Formats: sequence, C-alpha cells, structure tokens
Amino acid sequence: MIMVFDLGHSSDSIQSSKLLATCLIGGVVLGVSVLGFYLAFQPPRQLSWRRKKKPIRVYMDGCFDMMHYGHCNALRQARALGDQLVVGVVSDAEITANKGPPVTPLNERMIMVSAVKWVDEVIPDAPYAITEDFMKKLFDEYNIDYIIHGDDPCILPDGTDAYALAKKAGRYKQIKRTEGVSSTDIVGRMLLCVRERSLSDSHNHSSLQRQFSHGHSQKFEDGGSGSGTRISHFLPTSRRIVQFSNGKGPGPDARIVYIDGAFDLFHAGHVEILKLARGLGDFLLVGIHTDQTVSANRGAHRPIMNLHERSLSVLACRYVDEVIIGAPWEVSKDMVSLSSSQSSSALILNSISYRMHGFFFLQLLIKV
Ligand code: CTP
Repeated sequence: MIMVFDLGHSSDSIQSSKLLATCLIGGVVLGVSVLGFYLAFQPPRQLSWRRKKKPIRVYMDGCFDMMHYGHCNALRQARALGDQLVVGVVSDAEITANKGPPVTPLNERMIMVSAVKWVDEVIPDAPYAITEDFMKKLFDEYNIDYIIHGDDPCILPDGTDAYALAKKAGRYKQIKRTEGVSSTDIVGRMLLCVRERSLSDSHNHSSLQRQFSHGHSQKFEDGGSGSGTRISHFLPTSRRIVQFSNGKGPGPDARIVYIDGAFDLFHAGHVEILKLARGLGDFLLVGIHTDQTVSANRGAHRPIMNLHERSLSVLACRYVDEVIIGAPWEVSKDMVSLSSSQSSSALILNSISYRMHGFFFLQLLIKV
C-alpha cells in the first residue's frame, strides 16, 4: 500500500486520507480472513490432492556379475513395482562366500548397475542375505517399502532362503526371472570361444564347456554351423524392445550424437564411452553392428552375445536414447546419402533422415 502525505492540505483532506487508509487496511484484513477461512474448511479430498504422495521405494539386491539384459529386465520389473528403485550391490567377499568369486569386481558392478536407467539409488557392499539388521536399516534409513527378487530360489549355503525374513515381514515381492541368460551361461559361451586353441588344452576346455553350457549339444552350441560360438537363439519380442525403449525422439533443436560398435559383453568401459558421447549432445543414437559384421571384423568366435542381446543391454543404459539394431560398419557416408532417399522399405534410415533433417549430426570416431 502507498500512502501520500501532503503537509500543506486542510483538515478535510487529512480526514478523507485517513478514511481511505482505513478502508484499504480493512479490505486487506477482510481478504486475508476470507482466504484463511476458505483454506481451513477445504474438503479433505482436495487437501490430500494438494499434499505430495509418498513415493513407494523398492529394493532389489544382487551380484550383477557380468551384467546382462536379464539383470536389466529384473531391474525394470522391480522399478515398475514402485516409484523409486534402490539397488544393493553385493560385496565381493559376500559373493565369494556364497557362490564363489565374481568375475567383475564391485567397482565395475557398481558402474554397471548405476548406469541402468531404471535405477534411482545404489548401495555398495550389500549383504548376500537379508539379515534382521540390514532389513531394519532398509526400512528405517532407506525408507524401503518392499524387497524384491526374481522368482528363482535364492538359497544360502546352509540351505535357508536368503529372503525368508523379508517374506515373513510381508514386505517381499517377486518378479519373473528372464529365461535364456545368466552369468554362468555367458562364461560358458566365453569358454567356447577358446576351444580352437591348442589341442593339448582341448580336453580341459571341453570339460569346462560341458560344465558351463548346461549339457547343450555341440550342434546347438554351434547353431549347427560347426564354426560359430553363439549358443543363444534369443530373439526379443517387439514388446520387450518397447519395454526397454525410451519412446521419445529428439527435440526440434536436438544435437544428435551417433556412435556405433559391437557392444559385445556390455561392460563398464562401454558405459563410460556412452556417457562421454551423450555429454556431447542432446540425443544419443547407438548403432549396433550385426553378428556377421562383428564376426567379419573381430574373428569368427565373436560376438559372444547376439545382436538382440547386445541391443537390449545398450538400450537399458541411461545415456542411450535410441539404437539401430544392425547398423552398417561404414556409417557416415552411406547413412547420410541413404537418409535423403525416400525408400519406404528403409524404415530406420527414413527415421534417421527425419531426425537428421536440419539437425546437427556427429559421428564420433570412436570404435568400441
Ligand atoms: N535375474 C533375472 N533374470 C536373469 C538373471 C538374474 O531376473 N536371467 C535377477 C535375479 O533373480 C535377481 C537379480 O536379477 O533378482 C540379480 O541377480 P544376481 O544376484 O546377479 O544373481 P543370479 O540370479 O545368479 O544371476 P546370474 O545367474 O545371471 O548370475
């Protein structure tokens, strides 16, 4: 409120100024009272609508050794059961005591889990089993509502269930384990890669191969060809790809960054390079080379993971916006020229053309 004082005015004008000031103050007081009354007598439903809802926090733990798309799918499903996902990454010592030594150390496993786009928080050095103390810590310190694990049994060396306490507390939920992939399978596939080495080693290798390939026949492991090492025939459904996708294209002025590679056995180095690439622009498009392209360039024994498996691992990474499933080896010239064609069969290339139109396009000269 602004009040003006004129010292040379008559008593009448002073009186009317006083009256005006009184009216203004009275008006403000009345307005505040009406507002207070209105807020105090709001119906409860409208009040709760105004109050922020408490997010449901879920916890999933695991070793996440040689992180693969099965782990990513577990994290995706866990996140869907709440609003925030906290992940406990089991310590090297605990894994060693319960399952044998991990292939990847804790710091790498932390990088991998933190890079998954459905993960909100990560707790390092989590225990293998949910103990009374740790469960209390989860509920009291981390405000966890539910503890989640895949539907495969998780049995401790003493034969008890690692999640028994959480189940008893009524705070346990289960997700569906992804078939067809596990760290053990991946180690098996890697061992198959070395089978063509010296004959003297062949006996040891074949016994290891039998141990890790779960009795799959040699024919199946080779895909019948006798030369390859791809034992997975995993083909994702369109639904799975949609589940892993961001579903968003680049904005109108987006700076699109393109990087291509094999991204076989997706690891902490890949995560670092994708983070770097994403930092150079607003939208990261990743070209995943076909199995044939990888074999031709890296040797017949590669890749270990097939095109679809590699694509899912890359798609789950928080720095990636979109992937091209089966990108050509030579990218820049071909893609730029093809992108200007209007061929209706080249859906991916057309969509690249659309995204490239008028946007900055950069191919990083980095081969992963
Ligand atoms: N998981 C899954 N599907 C897979 C592998 C793991 O859903 N193919 C889930 C597990 O059920 C668990 C989480 O991922 O909830 C972390 O698994 P982890 O502790 O790493 O151990 P494993 O189940 O032994 O996984 P793997 O066999 O691949 O090592």
